[in-house]
Amino acid sequence: MTDFVMPQIDPALLPPSVRFGLSDTLPWLGRMRAANPVLRDPFGMHHVFTYAEVQQALADPGTFSSDPSHVMPQAAAELSAGMLAVMDPPAHTKVRRIASAAFTPKRVKDLNDRIAQIAEELLDAVPGDEFDFVTAFSQYLPLVVVSELLGIPKTDLPQFIAWTEALLQVTVPNPNDAAEMDAAMQAAMFGPLVQMQQYMAGLCAELRANPRDGFISDLLQAEVDGERLADHEAVNLAIQLLQAGHITSASVLANFVLRLGEHPDVEARLRTDPALIPAAVDEALRFTPPVPRLQRFTTTDTKLGGVAIPAKSMVFLSLLSANHDEKVFANPDAFDIDRGAARNLTFGHGIHYCFGAALAKTEAKFGIEALLRRYSSIEVLAGEPVEFYESELFTPKSVRVRVRRA
Ligand code: HEM
Repeated sequence: MTDFVMPQIDPALLPPSVRFGLSDTLPWLGRMRAANPVLRDPFGMHHVFTYAEVQQALADPGTFSSDPSHVMPQAAAELSAGMLAVMDPPAHTKVRRIASAAFTPKRVKDLNDRIAQIAEELLDAVPGDEFDFVTAFSQYLPLVVVSELLGIPKTDLPQFIAWTEALLQVTVPNPNDAAEMDAAMQAAMFGPLVQMQQYMAGLCAELRANPRDGFISDLLQAEVDGERLADHEAVNLAIQLLQAGHITSASVLANFVLRLGEHPDVEARLRTDPALIPAAVDEALRFTPPVPRLQRFTTTDTKLGGVAIPAKSMVFLSLLSANHDEKVFANPDAFDIDRGAARNLTFGHGIHYCFGAALAKTEAKFGIEALLRRYSSIEVLAGEPVEFYESELFTPKSVRVRVRRA
């Protein structure tokens, strides 16, 4: 019997660590875009780096499916039914339409009205003038917003923070190490995710029995063209909203404060002209997309950027690289709030375009407005370099700041 030999990847093709930020990653992505807009690695996985090709794949869900069962066993099907981001049409179309029906304009407006208030409440509770911005503010604002939407009691939020942190600890495994790949998969699929699912199942069962005013009760009752969600679909959709809407938005706020620390001129401009904040948020979203890459699975043999991709291939679409593609954004590695960055792909594109994009932008805008109003200066403390999770989400573990109250 011959021993199986794992293929090894040329180290020059492995992405640099993001533990201390993107200073190595951005030049590496520039080299990848120039040399291999679409790269096939020795495992047969494809990595797409250029804006046009990323957008093309996102616009073609028939060929580039979001459903992992095309390449992986069905074992996790119960875990994913209702999770919009891993579904294809027609099931995706049904769940998205029902979710949109439950996310009524009145519910969105009520939620928006709460965001500024929640931001003020969190700042009222900040301990002293030196603190960790992540644990005191940026993690909590989106979590409180999405949990109010879902009707999760405040007392349970620390449990959600713990589960989220456990998920973030799952590092992007070294593809040259089978044990690391396996451990990462097990931890991601059968650890905190299952516990969250049990929690949400309990909440949904309670709301099914005793409906009250709230998004989940609306979701359980919403009917579009005679179709409703099954209980496990509603549970998974709720988890998806919670996961998708928490660390992503937290990451925007934390990265924004880091950018202000690097660009005091931008901070000064935003203070004198707060109308610039939405453009600055767009640029921050472009510069450091909280979800740096998306996954797709080919349903058929296809071609992208001149590269043949066989059916049943795993394809990674780098939103981070697309957002730094010099063909679309001049001088892409500079942070420039005047560039008009709204074309970024940070919220995806096509049928899976982020369900919460408007909410996320409102959170960022109100969060930053509240900070600039409350503090006349926000200084990112030098000392230890800021450390980031090495997960599928790009977000700092902690950002120590010193503030002066206005
Ligand atoms: C800055 C914050 C956010 C970022 C960067 C972000 C990013 C994304 C991206 C890239 C996708 C596309 C996934 C794909 O095509 O595979 C997506 C989808 C999604 N997002 Fe967001 N998101 C954010 C905030 C939110 C919020 C606040 C919510 C809800 C409360 C939310 C809910 C969702 C849902 C449900 C989907 C799946 C949509 C579908 O597949 O049809 N997101 N998000």
